Parts: sequence; C-alpha cells; structure tokens
Amino acid sequence: MDQLAHFYHAHIAELNRRVAEITQGQQLAGLVIHSGQAHRQFLDDLHYPFKVNPQFKAWLPVLDNPNCWVVANGVDKPQLIFYRPVDFWHKVSDEPNDFWAEHFEIKLLTKADQVAQLLPTNLSDWAYIGEHIEVAKALGISCCNPDAVMNYLHYHRADKTQYELECLRRANQTAIKGHLAAKNAFYNGGSEFEIQQQYLSAIGQTENEVPYGNIVALNQNAAILHYTALEHQIPSPRLSFLIDAGANYNGYASDITRTYSFEKNSFYELIVEMNKLQLSLVDMMKPGVKYPDLHLRFHAKLADLMLEFNLATGDAQGLVEQGITSVFCPHGLGHMLGLQVHDMGGFLGDAAGSRIATPAGHPFLRCSREIAANQVFTIEPGIYIIDSLLAGLKADQRQSQINWDKVDELRPFGGIRIEDNVIVHQDRNENMTRELGLID
Ligand code: GLY
Ligand code: MN
Ligand code: MN
Repeated sequence: MDQLAHFYHAHIAELNRRVAEITQGQQLAGLVIHSGQAHRQFLDDLHYPFKVNPQFKAWLPVLDNPNCWVVANGVDKPQLIFYRPVDFWHKVSDEPNDFWAEHFEIKLLTKADQVAQLLPTNLSDWAYIGEHIEVAKALGISCCNPDAVMNYLHYHRADKTQYELECLRRANQTAIKGHLAAKNAFYNGGSEFEIQQQYLSAIGQTENEVPYGNIVALNQNAAILHYTALEHQIPSPRLSFLIDAGANYNGYASDITRTYSFEKNSFYELIVEMNKLQLSLVDMMKPGVKYPDLHLRFHAKLADLMLEFNLATGDAQGLVEQGITSVFCPHGLGHMLGLQVHDMGGFLGDAAGSRIATPAGHPFLRCSREIAANQVFTIEPGIYIIDSLLAGLKADQRQSQINWDKVDELRPFGGIRIEDNVIVHQDRNENMTRELGLID
C-alpha cells in the first residue's frame, strides 16, 4: 500500500476525534460539510473556477466536485454524498474508488437540489459548514459555521497528521520541479510569461490548480509584493528574477520563493546574505518558540544587513524601532501552511477562539502563535525598494538615516524574498524545500 493511503487511515481517525469532541461539547448532532457550489459570472452563463471549501478537502482529496457533502458526527463512519449528475456538458466525476473511498459510507447524488433525501432526516441540531447559507436554511439547518466549531477546527488545523505532512512534502517536491525550470528559463532569457509557462508545464498543473497566483517578476516588478501580471516583453537589461510559486498535492499547498541575480554584483551579494539570514531564522524554530519573536528577530537581523550594505546608518535597534526596517520589508516573516496557503488559525491562542495580537507596528504578520511539533510554517524574509513606502520615510527626519544613492542603485532590481516550507518536529526541523532539492 502506498504510504499515503496508510497514513490516511489515522488522518480520518483524527478528524473524527476532533468532530466528536467539538460536537459533543456544543450539543450538536454532527457536521454537514458542503464542498460548495459553482459560482456563475455576472450576466453570463460561465462559471468561475471552482474552489472547494477547505473544510471539505480536509476530509478527502476531491477538489473539483461541487454539491458534495461530508456528514460526520465523529462516532459513526462518515458519510460522503458524492455528486454524479447526468450531464452531457461537463465532465462527471467517476464513482469514488480511490484509496480514501473505503473510509466513507458513500451515497451518489444525481440532482443537487435533492440532497435532502440523502442527508439525516432532522437537521435541526446539526451544524452546516460551508459557504452557502441559503442552502443550509432551505435544508432546515439554522446553525451555520458556528464560531465555537470554526475556532476549534481552525486551531487544530495547525497540528498536522502524518498524512498531511506527507502531502505537504509532495507539494514541495512538485513545486521544486517548477522552480528549477523557471530558474533555467530566466537565465536563458525568458519573459515573465514564458517563465510562467515553463513553471506550469514542469509541475503539470494549470493556473487554476496551483494554490495561489504565481508571482513571476523580473527586475523592478520584484518590488510589487503581489505582482501577478505577466509581461511578454523581455526587459533589457535583465537584472533580477523573483519567483513565488507553489503547487498543490491532494489539496495541500506549497509556497516557495527564490530570487536570482543575472550577474554577480552587489545585488547578488545581498541575495547571498539574505539566504544566510533566512536559514538562520529557520534554525531558530522549535516547539515553544513564539512565532512573533522570530519575526522581531528577523527585523533585528534585517537592520544589521542594511547597515552592512550601507543602505542605512545609525544603530540597528533604532532602525527597527523607527519602522525603517518595516519600510524595506512590510510583510510578515511567514505563516502557517496546509490546506490553505495562509492556513487558518494563525492568530488563535486556544481552541475556544482567543486571539493573540501581532506585535505593535507589525500588522501584516499572519502568525502570532507559539510553535508546536508537527506544525508547518513558511519562513520568508525579504527586502524591497518600494517607492510608495519610501516616500513616507523621505517625508520625515528618518530620511537622514537612509543612503539614497544605494536605494537608487538597488531600485531596478526590485527586491529579494527567500521562502521555504518547514515542518517543526519535536527534536529537529525538516526544511522540506531544501531537503527535497531546492538548495539555493
Ligand atoms: N505566496 C504568498 C505568500 O508567500 O504568503
Ligand atoms: Mn509565497
Ligand atoms: Mn508565504
């Protein structure tokens, strides 16, 4: 048996355990978890690409089938209501026979609006987990996505099962093929558009299947944090390349970034140092460490780097405290990773839903939790020349601490980000991205 199928058994057992605990605690009969419905485009007969409810894909790797339901109370074998319409326009999913199928009581649904016939007869004390509240109401369910259940599930999502860890490794393995192809395409003179095509063909996934819109940025575009335009034009001169791109495996995401310099210049030296800094932050992760403390350590190190590269003057602590390092890297050090790229639950202090604030002055950090074993995080420090933020620095007394000539020199290169996906174990870290072959 494939190792994944072997791990899946324990994964389902853990999900059942969680459902039993939270539903019994909340006096609920169980959860009905909806895969979703197709969304039609305004004034059109076309649908947006289907994106499955993450709470549904936590149970089984069915990502492309709307109108499906998992019915679970944590005690009985979970039911899967699987949509198989008579439809000559669209592909109809095959009857389930994959490794996961034996773990469900499967019922086939041919008409989406007749699901009531297959669901439990009295749904008044069940909770609906999904996006389509009107569907739940029509079925007689009044309890939709209750906070107590969602907080509990999101909090525990951080603790990955062995099945999930293996999916995340495979999502890394796949994305790495794309990163190697993209790097090659960059040094061979490809445009952003061409590099993107090379990436997707190397991983064998379409733009709709990858977990987020790839960031493929040449030169100054690397300074745009969520750059997703893809220029066909080949820039001259060719200076730098930032790629932030992942892959999907059974609904689990990888999220990897690399930055390359076309020539061995001072931007290249900055990448080399950022790479060392990134690895040193990965090494600091261990159970019991608070993720925000790592983020603050990153800013202290970024200040040192800025002094070393003559981007700024003064003392390192002052650069952090005055928000100068935040101008050069406004985003957080990283986040939890799993079924979603920014996995839910990053701010939860406990399963009851208490929230942990991010440090003052760091509003964009997406994880404020304490790290525990079997959790998965990205570590993604960066440095960018972002003119809209630098304008704020220029406008006050902080401008005297910036070496604007150095800023001008780096501007055409855009910026640097280096991002790995790491499993924290009890006694070691598993940097999946590096260990599976994306060395630098
Ligand atoms: N690709 C999104 C992120 O790195 O968080
Ligand atoms: Mn990323
Ligand atoms: Mn990320």
